[in-house]
Amino acid sequence: MAEQIAVEGNTREEKYNNLLPQLKSLLAGENDPVANMGNLCAALKETFGFLWVGFYLVRGNELVLGPFQGPVACTRIQMGKGVCGTAWVKQHTLIVPDVTEFPGHIACSTRSRSEIVVPLFRQGSVIAVLDIDSEHLNDFSLTDQTHLESITQLLS
Ligand code: SME
Repeated sequence: MAEQIAVEGNTREEKYNNLLPQLKSLLAGENDPVANMGNLCAALKETFGFLWVGFYLVRGNELVLGPFQGPVACTRIQMGKGVCGTAWVKQHTLIVPDVTEFPGHIACSTRSRSEIVVPLFRQGSVIAVLDIDSEHLNDFSLTDQTHLESITQLLS
């Protein structure tokens, strides 16, 4: 297939609904997780214009930077640290409307104002997290959580 994504829609909900089948088709043709994580980051960043979209992968007792799109980022996050390490330990999605109000937030970019982190599971364990940063305060809602949780399941 042609490796391209063309997303229509006015609202974020419409864009997610338009994006999901295209992502399914894009990822179905490839079984390498790194390749698929890379394309997923690119598709989300291109579609929504987020500041940073990327994966941190569980490696022992820390997270290590995986495929991403955006400014360079910190490479390792300890279990339970930052938003990513907290979502890993709590095993559920975290939405941070204002990163300055999250105790222990790790500021990879001073431009980041709000953030969502979605854990990925295999056989009940967290194997990675999807981290998305926005330059806008309060940029993430249940709409993002619901759709991003569906999208990350495409990688399982
Ligand atoms: N802010 C994250 C660190 C990763 S960067 O945002 C890319 C955190 O607090 O875990």
